[in-house]
Amino acid sequence: MTTIQGIKQVRGDITVPGDKSISHRAVMFSALAEGTTTIEGFLPGADCLSTISCFRKLGITIEQEGDRVRVEGKGWYGLTEPSEILDIGNSGTTIRLMMGILSTQPFHSVLIGDESIARRPMKRVTGPLRRMGADIAGRNNGEYTPLSVRGGKLTGIEYRSPVSSAQVKSAVLLAGLAAEGETTVYEPEVSRDHTERMLRSFGVDVESFNGGVRVRGGQSLQSPGHIQVPGDISSAAFPLVAAVIIPGSHIVVRNVGVNPTRSGIIDVLREMGADLTLDNEREVNGEPVADIEVKYAPLKGIEIGGAIIPRLIDEIPVIAVLATQAEGTTVIKDAAELKVKETNRIDTIVAELSKMGARIEPTEDGMIVYGRTPLRGAVCDSHGDHRIGMAAAIAGLAASGETIIQNADSINVSFPGFFTTLRQISE
Ligand code: S3P
Repeated sequence: MTTIQGIKQVRGDITVPGDKSISHRAVMFSALAEGTTTIEGFLPGADCLSTISCFRKLGITIEQEGDRVRVEGKGWYGLTEPSEILDIGNSGTTIRLMMGILSTQPFHSVLIGDESIARRPMKRVTGPLRRMGADIAGRNNGEYTPLSVRGGKLTGIEYRSPVSSAQVKSAVLLAGLAAEGETTVYEPEVSRDHTERMLRSFGVDVESFNGGVRVRGGQSLQSPGHIQVPGDISSAAFPLVAAVIIPGSHIVVRNVGVNPTRSGIIDVLREMGADLTLDNEREVNGEPVADIEVKYAPLKGIEIGGAIIPRLIDEIPVIAVLATQAEGTTVIKDAAELKVKETNRIDTIVAELSKMGARIEPTEDGMIVYGRTPLRGAVCDSHGDHRIGMAAAIAGLAASGETIIQNADSINVSFPGFFTTLRQISE
């Protein structure tokens, strides 16, 4: 349980922990590559530590201290059959990408996770992986954990994913790297492309084109030696939103990944009227990085839907907070994927913000927020979902009185030190 007091303003010059999606991939690809890789800026949050723990059980030597990691890659077929169950905790990215990798390995593995993972749909990956030839068993015919995989020889496929999901795209492409022939994944809207970018930095030929991505089987990964992980825009979003909604605020978040497939929050902030600038734009290991500066400004409600949704899917809980402080109505649509995240985020964010006096309604594929509404402190619950806990905390900073966040521990999944950062910027 953690208590948040409403504050006068947010000020500061900060960094946020490393990007979660990039940290997972850095460990996975380094383990599968020939040679040793050092990773800096790694996110030492619970999810990425689950990825490290799985690869250790698969026989890979990994040293980790804070945000520094050293992985001794043994090549694609250097993994060994695990004698223990692979427990991926709360991490959807770990289990779905691991399913792709383990489908290519000539041994048997079993994956489990926590109660939230046990409710999340896995057929979106087990379906195409079975089509490629993987032998997968799981509860409800491969929809839910526990899942077991007996990997082996796969054949490349053309896969048209019904959902825009980087986890699905990545699982199929990773399996495709060790499959016979070519593997192509098409998705309705482009999802985050960290897998494609990082595979290229490991010397893999990846063809991205309008609507899809293709790889040739039989390619090996060569360690680039060193990977620098940028700050996570999904974590930066929380202090940025706090600054935009609390009068008098001014904040700089340095060294943030601004990959266009992730930066929908920047577009939304600007369209709503935020005073936001990107400075020091550069490229680090094939990923665009910048410092983001924002100042308080009056906001207006907007409509958010279509191709932008995968570019900001993880930021919707905090965008809902933002919308409570914008003049007029904000409509979020085409975001039914929110229902299958760590919690049903349509229900959980509507429930928590309603307790604080927000006028917010759930819809089938998103929500409608009526602004501008003063928020008041309340007893909120993360529901075990890190981003719901952090969104409620940001609402608490902008609210009058005191807000209690129950089950705040879940925030360690993606943003260890979150409350320290909030204290640092609160005035
Ligand atoms: C992620 C992809 C997204 C995102 C998740 C991380 C990734 O999930 O919500 O936090 O690292 O590939 P989906 O692939 O289910 O959209």
